[in-house]
Amino acid sequence: MRALIAVLPGDGVGPEVTKEAQRVLQAVAERGDHDFTFREALIGGIAIDETGEPLPVATREAVTHADAVLLGAVGGPKWSDPSASVRPEQGLLGLRALLGVYANIRPVAVHPALAAAAPLKPELLENVDIVFVRELTGGLYFGQKTHDRDASGASTRASDLCVYTTEEVERVVRMAADIARARRRKLLSVDKANVLATSRLWREVTTRVMRDEFPDVALEHALVDSFAMHLITTPSRFDVVVTENLFGDILTDEAAVLAGSIGVLPSASLGDASTDGLRRGLYEPIHGSAPDIAGKGIANPAGAILSAALLLRHSLGLTDDAALIEAAVSETITAGIRTADCVGPGQRACSTADFGDAVLERLFARSASMH
Ligand code: IPM
Ligand code: MN
Repeated sequence: MRALIAVLPGDGVGPEVTKEAQRVLQAVAERGDHDFTFREALIGGIAIDETGEPLPVATREAVTHADAVLLGAVGGPKWSDPSASVRPEQGLLGLRALLGVYANIRPVAVHPALAAAAPLKPELLENVDIVFVRELTGGLYFGQKTHDRDASGASTRASDLCVYTTEEVERVVRMAADIARARRRKLLSVDKANVLATSRLWREVTTRVMRDEFPDVALEHALVDSFAMHLITTPSRFDVVVTENLFGDILTDEAAVLAGSIGVLPSASLGDASTDGLRRGLYEPIHGSAPDIAGKGIANPAGAILSAALLLRHSLGLTDDAALIEAAVSETITAGIRTADCVGPGQRACSTADFGDAVLERLFARSASMH
């Protein structure tokens, strides 16, 4: 198969982890006789430095023609001045809007060997396997913003508007319900319907879509504050969780604590499927640019590598190759090969490239034994 993959390394540890993910994709291509073309483009702070814009025209052009986009991370202290009018994050938000990827899929499964790296009691982490579906192109992130200042330039008032339309809720709930159908047929919708109008719309639309179109999937609702607590006290109770943009942002960082390190978690951002059933998507680890460890070669590339697996599955339909990568990462972790973010007692931390090498080695061993 031929595919054009846009690679947007971005800032901080982004380039380091993306490099390992790209090596893994290249290895899969060589093994499976696929022809992958990688086209690198700028995004975020580095794009601001080089072009003045966080999402330059050349990048917009590259992603529009690509079958899928692999992204590292954006942002860093260099571009964090609150008074700056251009920010790296605008590049990422602009990219999500441009690609129309309204559903952000964040699987949180706890690898048993990493349970010890998590601060929670190991027995709480048994059988934790959650898929978060975060609405990604609406809500507070994309509503109108204002920021007033007085004559001296001091801030006096600011606002962010939270808007959801029925259609925006319907499409992300359908995506989540389809995922739930292929799993344990349980969907939890998280909102703040006791306070927010957008949450009451969310709850009403979700209830109707599920009743009319997914009667075989059990729907429950939860308020975001109590869910935040239950996510830590009884995480194995949850299966597929759908929620709005900001709640999803916060809850998935919280959920990352369950996995032992935010460095191991991947994500896929998807929009509507084209006629062949495949979706052009944006794939990125859920961790940020981690400026404190950038350039040291010690970041965990597992989240980026697993994002590459999701890319193969959702945008290219290469399900077997995706599973091969996931198995290779899992075996690497089982073998005790860990970057500094999740080393256990008595384990030596390996480098980003060492972890990548270990995954490639297992990938080759597995694909050789399959032929
Ligand atoms: C994420 C990140 C982004 C978000 C930032 C970098 C804009 O935190 O992907 O979760 O808030 O969506
Ligand atoms: Mn986030």
